[in-house]
Amino acid sequence: LVASFGSEALRGLKVVVSAGPTYEDIDPVRFIGNRSSGRMGFAVAEAAAQAGAAVTLVAGPVTLATPAGVAHRIDVRSAAEMHVAVLAAAAQADIYVGAAAVGDYRPSAVAPQKLKKHGGAGLTLELAENPDILASLSAQTVHPFLVGFAAETHDVASYAQDKLQRKGLDMIAANQVGDGLGFEAADNALNLYWAGGSVELPRASKTELAHQLVAQVAQRYKAVRQ
Ligand code: CTP
Ligand code: CA
Repeated sequence: LVASFGSEALRGLKVVVSAGPTYEDIDPVRFIGNRSSGRMGFAVAEAAAQAGAAVTLVAGPVTLATPAGVAHRIDVRSAAEMHVAVLAAAAQADIYVGAAAVGDYRPSAVAPQKLKKHGGAGLTLELAENPDILASLSAQTVHPFLVGFAAETHDVASYAQDKLQRKGLDMIAANQVGDGLGFEAADNALNLYWAGGSVELPRASKTELAHQLVAQVAQRYKAVRQ
């Protein structure tokens, strides 16, 4: 592994990383979830710690051990819980990296008891939209440097640049999902965009990509905030 930064790149900075999916409960035994292993976000948290940052990792339901050097880990389940945890942690943070695959919708009501089948009648679930964590951070007058992710199956560049603008982000990391890349895979490839620039991080392990991403974040952070 070729380190792309020293242990000083984020020294003295507080970084919050969200990772993994969220689970939106339907009833006590069922949920709606996203396909996300959490590995990309955990790798980003580890790389940020290696770059000298004090890292808080807000993790959805994943089966991953806390990376070495990560100071705080907060485990959450739903998008609503992640929203609360990220907003609290981000109040003190310099940088937020939203690597979590946040559920866009939750069941409007959680059934208190297990739903039973009703003779082939089918089931319609009513869903409500979850709050957008990144957008609510960027709406605050004072907020951390914001890095989003965009997992897309098609038109990756245009959707990612649109999200950069619409959510008021400082940087977005776009990846194409499918074809053995992205979700649940060990490898990934990212295109980074910010206002007035972009860089391509070609296919590599999530550990290697996380190092390169953190190096770019440190560089952009210094350009706009210091
Ligand atoms: N995100 C968030 N809160 C949400 C949904 C998404 O903070 N409720 C963040 C993700 O963590 C990611 C970025 O927004 O960093 C982009 O997520 P994505 O799902 O690609 O964007 P959406 O705005 O939800 O658009 P869509 O799913 O319709 O493509
Ligand atoms: Ca989404």
